[in-house]
Amino acid sequence: MSAPAEALPAQLAGSAAARAVAALPADTLVCDMYEPRGAEIYHDFTLGDTSEVRDILREVRASTGTVLELAAGSGRLTFPLLGLRRELLAVDLSESMLALLRERLALLPAAAAARCTAVRGDITTYAAPEPVGAAVLGTTSVSLLGRARRQAMLRRTWQNLAPGGIFVLTTAQISADAGDLAERALQVRGASGSSYQVHDLVAPDRAGRYTVVLGPDGGPGVPRTVCHSYIRVVPLAELTADLTAAGFTVEHTATLPGERYAAALVRARKEGAR
Ligand SMILES: C[S@@+](CC[C@H](N)C(=O)[O-])C[C@H]1O[C@@H](n2cnc3c(N)ncnc32)[C@H](O)[C@@H]1O
Repeated sequence: MSAPAEALPAQLAGSAAARAVAALPADTLVCDMYEPRGAEIYHDFTLGDTSEVRDILREVRASTGTVLELAAGSGRLTFPLLGLRRELLAVDLSESMLALLRERLALLPAAAAARCTAVRGDITTYAAPEPVGAAVLGTTSVSLLGRARRQAMLRRTWQNLAPGGIFVLTTAQISADAGDLAERALQVRGASGSSYQVHDLVAPDRAGRYTVVLGPDGGPGVPRTVCHSYIRVVPLAELTADLTAAGFTVEHTATLPGERYAAALVRARKEGAR
C-alpha cells in the first residue's frame, strides 16, 4: 500500500513531490501547512527565517499606537514587533499556530508578554476592540486569500485603522529574472535540528506556487507528516487597485530581493489626521 499522494492538491499529480509522497509509508499524514502537525513543521523550519523583518519594522516604527498583526502564526514577526514596545494584537485563524505563539509568549518577561494579545480570528472579518495605529500582514500571507476574501480583508483592515494609520503588507511575486522555474527539491534543517525535504513548484499558469514539505521519520509508531500550501501570486497592480478601492492611499511599494520569488512590500494609509 502506498501513502495517500491523492491527498495532495490534484494539480500536483505527476510531480516529483507526489512521487516522493507516494513512496512514504501508508500511515503518512498529509495535511494543510497550518493544521496541527503542519503548524509544528512550519514553525520549526521558519523559526530562524528573518525575511522581511527589517523592512516591516522600518515601516511600523514610523507609526504610533497599537499594532495589529494579521496572520501572526507562531510569531515569527510578532517577537520583533514586540521589540518596538507597543501594544500588539496578534490575530490568526489557526488554533495550532496560536498555541505555539502563546507558548513562546509565556517565556517572555511578564511586562513584554502583557503587551501582546493573541486572538483567534479570521482576518477577513476580525474587528479590533479599538482603532489601531498600524496593521501588518507579512510573509506574503495576502496570497493565501482568493480575491473576494482579500478585498473583504482590506475593507476590514481599513475599518480597524485609526485615521492616519498605516497598513504594511507583502505579496509574493515571481522574480523578474528567475530563469529556471522547474520543480525543485531541497533539504532544509529546522530549528530543532530535524531535516525536511521541501518541494517548490510554480503552477503552470504562473498564478501561484505550491510548497510541499516532507517531515522527518519520527521513529517507530510515529507516522510521517507531509504538509502543503498554495500561495497565489497576486499582481501588484491588482493589489494596489484593491487597496485603493478599500479606501487606502498607496504611499510606497518596494521589491524585496529574492532569487526565485521576490516579495513586494506595500505601505498604504488610511487618510486622516494622525
Ligand atoms: C505563511 S503563515 C505566516 C505566519 C507568520 N506571520 C510568519 O511569518 O511565520 C500564514 C498564516 O496565515 C494564517 N491564516 C491563513 N488564513 C487566515 C485567515 N483567513 N485569517 C487569519 N489567519 C489566517 C495561517 O493560519 C498562518 O498562520
